[in-house]
Amino acid sequence: MVVANRLPVEIGADGTLSASPGGLASALSSIIRPGTQWVGWGGPQSGTAAAFDYGDVRLHPVSLSADEMSKYYDGFANAILWPLFHGRLRRVELNRVWWRSYRAVNERFARAVTAVAPLGATVWVHDYHLLLAPAMIRAKRPDLRVGLFLHIPFPNVQLFSMLPWRREVIEGMLGADLVGFQVADDVANFVAAAERLVDARAGDRLLLDGSHSVAVDAFPISVDFAQWDALGHRATDEARAIREELGDGTVFLGIDRLDYTKGISQRLQAFGELINEGRLDATSCTFAQVAVPSRSDVVAYQDERSEVEALIDAVNVRHRRDDGSLPIRYMATSLDEVAMTAWFRAADALVVTSLADGMNLVAKEFVAARSDLGGVLVLSEFAGAAQDLEGALIVNPYDIEAVKRAFVAVTEMPPAERTSRMTSMRAAVERHDVHHWARSFLERLDSVTPARGRGGLADKLAAIRRAGRLHDRKE
Ligand code: G6P
Repeated sequence: MVVANRLPVEIGADGTLSASPGGLASALSSIIRPGTQWVGWGGPQSGTAAAFDYGDVRLHPVSLSADEMSKYYDGFANAILWPLFHGRLRRVELNRVWWRSYRAVNERFARAVTAVAPLGATVWVHDYHLLLAPAMIRAKRPDLRVGLFLHIPFPNVQLFSMLPWRREVIEGMLGADLVGFQVADDVANFVAAAERLVDARAGDRLLLDGSHSVAVDAFPISVDFAQWDALGHRATDEARAIREELGDGTVFLGIDRLDYTKGISQRLQAFGELINEGRLDATSCTFAQVAVPSRSDVVAYQDERSEVEALIDAVNVRHRRDDGSLPIRYMATSLDEVAMTAWFRAADALVVTSLADGMNLVAKEFVAARSDLGGVLVLSEFAGAAQDLEGALIVNPYDIEAVKRAFVAVTEMPPAERTSRMTSMRAAVERHDVHHWARSFLERLDSVTPARGRGGLADKLAAIRRAGRLHDRKE
């Protein structure tokens, strides 16, 4: 079973389905096996939709009231945990009212899981929305094997300790048998927090209360290489059409949810300065920025949108061309995978300047789509992807001069160097694709729960009965 805040699809008011936003939903969608059940929210219009089959997967929508969307999703998840875990302290709003809703919604997800999970099933919980759910699931159904994967960074213990509910959050996570993170730093931060805040003892596993042991490790997520590679091959004509429209100058591309962690302003500032200084040609170079509207009821996201758009206006007003075209092409919309791939193939460089980022799957999608071996990746050292993609031009996004140097390097890079960098990055993504990620996590989960794996049916039933759930059922 997969448990994530979002189902793979959003359910419209009229029941129509559309792909859920974000890399998590798309990565998980490609690893789903027939027979999987997925518990999640169907989006703001989904109401109280009943369970239904979507392809080979059974979807169990969890409904959220308007009040819960505001307190659990906009509030606790996206105005406390998201900024805190990404080190954006200025954006954290420690509103105490939201905690109760976060706990209640986690409880609802846990109940939705335990109501339908087959005996001894493997339950894989995802991301910061559901950090309390593992312990809640384990308390109700000790027969289940529970994994938790955090898609975003885990902050260092000093930062994490700001959270008034820090103990409860750690205890919730430690309900899992295996907790996975993107990179080794996150693992170290989590282990330090568990040792300090709940007295867990660290050895090769975290040991809690002297009995429940929890494995913790890094499993860097990836993309479906074969799928993006195939999309790339098919996008040649659309990519050519984009290039014809934009002309011969260098094309830089950004594709992000409109989020203050993505460093969109930093990259546009670097681009604007370079054309002001004449180091990039204002009459021919383009920065194409796709900014997918996201979490727009949260004030920090509204502020970010205003800041980004003001910056774009300033550059475009100053450098509007005679034919009316603009150096920054701004698209405040989401693109489907086909349209994204056309932009990937049309660009000279994809620019990822996240200030903090668990992984950044757009960087890996770009690499997988560039079977032509063209295209340079400018990549923030603060994105998890920087640890996997050595062929990128790695930058500190806070260092605007360094970002500018990287942009100039894109324009000067010999084709042979582009090819060799892209070849090495593609090999890395192909070797460690999303299937490798899922397999590694699930095999580890399997191996760290041998007792339950070997235990007979009678043991499992006894455990469930002890927890008080099968009292009125026949064996
Ligand atoms: C990030 C998070 C995901 C989330 C996605 C989209 O990738 O790690 O959990 O689903 O953003 O954000 P949203 O708030 O629209 O679900």
